[in-house]
Amino acid sequence: MTDMIAVIVAAGRGERAGGGLPKQYRALAGLPLIAHAHDSLMRHPRVAGVVLVVAEGAEEMARAALDGRPVLAMVPGGATRRASVAAGLEAVAALGHGDRVLIHDAARPLIPRAVIDRLAAALDDAAGAVPVLPVADTLARGDQGALGDIVPRDGLQRVQTPQAFRLDAILAAHRGWAGGEEPTDDAQMLRALGEPVALVAGDPVLDKITHPADFDRAETWLAAASSWR
Ligand code: CTP
Ligand code: MG
Repeated sequence: MTDMIAVIVAAGRGERAGGGLPKQYRALAGLPLIAHAHDSLMRHPRVAGVVLVVAEGAEEMARAALDGRPVLAMVPGGATRRASVAAGLEAVAALGHGDRVLIHDAARPLIPRAVIDRLAAALDDAAGAVPVLPVADTLARGDQGALGDIVPRDGLQRVQTPQAFRLDAILAAHRGWAGGEEPTDDAQMLRALGEPVALVAGDPVLDKITHPADFDRAETWLAAASSWR
């Protein structure tokens, strides 16, 4: 069954990662991050195709980075991640097939197949599902250079992507966006409508490439691919 369409959001500027080129176009072991993300998603038997969201004017750079990998659509993103996802979802809706979507950050190049398996299974009973890892470190507020209050970490989770949704539900959440503080992921938009979002076990391999040193960490994972792929 190939019933899921993957939206890859790659329209950010990658400011925290530094360097000349936005991080999604930079190479990990010789292959740009977006090509890794595309391969990781398309390797899964349930993924029918990819809708790619890129910055306005970056289409040629994206095509070069994909080096022949097919996309169902390539659309311009917006000024925020939320706006970029919304553009991708509208492109999925316009395709008119597939009622399940995976929404994924291009900045997470490596995706264990088992995580997509878990998301797909959870989506049978929920409108949305997200991969999470429990927070391990002590969490505290910083108070002008001094230690502030400890935040109890019981039950706290780090939320990753890909996130899986029924298309109609997540489209409704995005179309109904009323403004205000920008959400950092899509599951919280669905939850704001009162829809429960299922949790599945995430994976450290999915941690986002945010800072320059994260490339080294991801190369180590890639070299150990047999242990997670
Ligand atoms: N993203 C997007 N459109 C935006 C902002 C972000 O498509 N307007 C995408 C990024 O390309 C990335 C994902 O959302 O794949 C997660 O965002 P983040 O890690 O914050 O990437 P950037 O915004 O590019 O990085 P930074 O915040 O450091 O500038
Ligand atoms: Mg950002």
